[in-house]
Amino acid sequence: MARRCLSIILAAGEGTRMKSARSKVLHEVAGLAMVRHVVAAAAAAGSDTIAVVSGKDGEAVVEAVRRDRDDTGHYVQEERLGTAHAVLAARAAIEAGADDVLVLFADTPLIRPETLARARASLIAGNAICVIGFRPQNPSGYGRLIERDGELLAIREDKDASEAEKAIDFCNAGVMALAGDTALAVLGEIGNANAKGEYYLTDAIEIARRAGLKVRAIEAEAFEVAGVNNRAELAAVEATWQERRRRRAMIEEGVTLIAPETVTFSHDTRLSRDVVVEPNVVFGPGVAVGEGAVIHAFSHIAGATIAPGVSVGPFARLREGTELLEGSKVGNFCEVKNASLGEGAKVSHLSYIGDAEIGAATNVGAGTITCNYDGSRKHRTVIGAGAFIGSDTSLVAPVTIGDGAYVGTGSVITDDVPAGALAIARERQVTKEDRGRQIIERNRAAKAGAADTAKSAKAAKPARAARAPGETKSARTEKAEKPEQSREPRQGARRGPPSRS
Ligand code: UD1
Ligand code: CA
Repeated sequence: MARRCLSIILAAGEGTRMKSARSKVLHEVAGLAMVRHVVAAAAAAGSDTIAVVSGKDGEAVVEAVRRDRDDTGHYVQEERLGTAHAVLAARAAIEAGADDVLVLFADTPLIRPETLARARASLIAGNAICVIGFRPQNPSGYGRLIERDGELLAIREDKDASEAEKAIDFCNAGVMALAGDTALAVLGEIGNANAKGEYYLTDAIEIARRAGLKVRAIEAEAFEVAGVNNRAELAAVEATWQERRRRRAMIEEGVTLIAPETVTFSHDTRLSRDVVVEPNVVFGPGVAVGEGAVIHAFSHIAGATIAPGVSVGPFARLREGTELLEGSKVGNFCEVKNASLGEGAKVSHLSYIGDAEIGAATNVGAGTITCNYDGSRKHRTVIGAGAFIGSDTSLVAPVTIGDGAYVGTGSVITDDVPAGALAIARERQVTKEDRGRQIIERNRAAKAGAADTAKSAKAAKPARAARAPGETKSARTEKAEKPEQSREPRQGARRGPPSRS
């Protein structure tokens, strides 16, 4: 089909009911601006050219759309005089030539490409206009589609409709396809003699019919054409989008969702066969999950590539630039950012891995922290393959740990560790026979003494009790402990700079 298609996206609404500093159509559904959903649908339906009609402050809207289509045309509707007037703001785009012209609303983000393609097919079948209709639960407020013998005769706006016309439940969704060769002639004839004094795009139907052109309506599902005017409608559209995405995951992609309604996807989440997603998982943008991977409960994942057979969570946080190779594992209470885990590598508990590279089959112990930030710059930690990082280790970047190296538990590693080496960087343990028992007994006696003093003070005079026996006790304890501690032998362990966080 070599027909050229132009999509005109109307985004000139004020959106005041959103009560927002941002343009309404930039508010996001599944993490993507509404207008970009519409552009994606238009593109998927084969649009060669996209034109956005905005109000006066439309730069941000067009900028957003140009991230997908950098050749998007921008037309400004200076005054808001109606939907036909808005379409004609993009007159130059229509004049440039198109076989099919699609008119879409930027605040109707769930429109499906299949529906737009059906509208185009109707033009190919010889209709000059194809209107997309739907049957809402409550038709009031919508333009009614007046049909006879399968032909569309007119669209009557709610404000202009008779009682009989108001009883019609087949309504105008606002989306329309017009044949490019007759579009401008029809649109040019539209006037504003109606209840609202606006140039109604819907008048195109009767004008086309008078010119002997054929007009038809097709029906879309109601969810597709749900518009967003306020935050509650935004949430409702989000819910619909999520519901459909979950179904697609389960029915088409072979993904197990144990509690589907608790999983939130992003517009671009990519899932593979036999992925299992446990309850309460959030996918931010930029995530791909490979076959058979398991995302355990309460994980938050964005900007991550997860290979087949990987295990994530529960309670894992994967951030931008995470790459987990086959069979690797990120366990509970771990955060990973801008880092890769080689095949079979494991970071199982309570760790922060940032700006790092971890080799295949390396085991990173519980509580390991890559200290990647020195207060102004980020530094990398590189760990080779088959290495072992003991629990509670701080890796002060930039630092490199070689293949097969072993780092002792509780180390603060500031210098590179060669392949195969053992590195321990911590104070040596001091053990004193019987000293523990002595301390415990002394503390117990002090506590009992303090309680007795308090009791007798209370019996004598409550106000005197403020003489703080506790203070005396702790001062004495400190005095007794201090010389002891200073006599403890200092181990030769080299001290690194203060740990970065
Ligand atoms: C419009 C349709 C109505 C349909 C309904 C579906 C017309 C005359 N009526 O009514 O049949 O049932 O949508 O929701 O088309 N816009 C501009 N510039 C303007 C006016 C509107 O860009 O001058 C944009 C708005 O931002 C909005 C869309 O066009 O995205 C629809 O405009 P709106 O005024 O909401 O039309 P409705 O009265 O809802
Ligand atoms: Ca509307």
